[in-house]
Amino acid sequence: MATPTKTIRAIDEHTITGATIEQMSTTSNPRMKHVMEALVRHLHDFAREVDLTPKEWIDGIAFLTAVGQKCTPNRQEFILLSDTLGLSSLVNSLHDKRGLEDSTKSSLLGPFYRQKSPVLKAGESISTTAHKGQDVTLYGRVLDSKGAPVENASVEIWQPDENGDYDLQREADLVDLRGTFHTDADGRYCARSVAPTGYMIPMDGPVGDMIRAQGRHGYRPAHIHFLVGKPGYREVVTALYLGNDVHIDSDTVFGVTESLVTAVKQHDPESPIPNLPAIQFNFTLAAAGEAGMGRVGADPAQIVKK
Ligand code: BEZ
Ligand code: FE
Repeated sequence: MATPTKTIRAIDEHTITGATIEQMSTTSNPRMKHVMEALVRHLHDFAREVDLTPKEWIDGIAFLTAVGQKCTPNRQEFILLSDTLGLSSLVNSLHDKRGLEDSTKSSLLGPFYRQKSPVLKAGESISTTAHKGQDVTLYGRVLDSKGAPVENASVEIWQPDENGDYDLQREADLVDLRGTFHTDADGRYCARSVAPTGYMIPMDGPVGDMIRAQGRHGYRPAHIHFLVGKPGYREVVTALYLGNDVHIDSDTVFGVTESLVTAVKQHDPESPIPNLPAIQFNFTLAAAGEAGMGRVGADPAQIVKK
């Protein structure tokens, strides 16, 4: 057994941080070393700042254990925790800053994205069941950072219905209100859908308990998700938000950014589908680069395997 060093014998609430970092200094991966050192410093500073008690420490461990136990191939409670603590939105902002060129801002992928959605033709509807919501056209262009059209970009769309429910919340195998489109030579995309409604994030787990304990409402404002990409460009994971939603300024997961706020225009002479209310939005893709690639968010099935 190794003889305890002087540092270990002198451990107190201040020297513990240096001792931990010193013991981890043999980490061979430089990025892991940097991230773990910073994590330990901030974690220890946090415990000192709040004067963490043994009961609070064990309560925190019980909470994180419950978060892990709630995770399945269809449910990622850890991502939900990250979302509701503002960490996902912060990671998205850092990701956006790493782009070589300006692009449409990222917003949360969320737990309802599924990798495969029906491939549809321009102007087709993503709705496969009857809906009482208002029919709308979603249209616009996909452009590069210089404003030139991006042809054959894929535009994946998924959204909740007029009750705030996604297809897989209504029925496990239902495919409704999701589809993949491709832009034409002018970078244009066009889909038909129904106007979405805001909804509460999944509140039946430990994250919901936390949200209630904090007196938060748990709602997301009405939005439509988009994943736009083409090889050679940085993929954009984002969402468009309806500015007239009561929760537009208090999104529980901090996904709303001014540039993503939009509205349903009741009469839009520019819309490719006449006499239908429309939401118009142009997406900008930045050129791909070595730094800052990778998806913002994940399908839960990629984290907990089926
Ligand atoms: C969503 O928009 O689908 C979503 C994002 C984060 C947490 C819950 C839902
Ligand atoms: Fe959503």
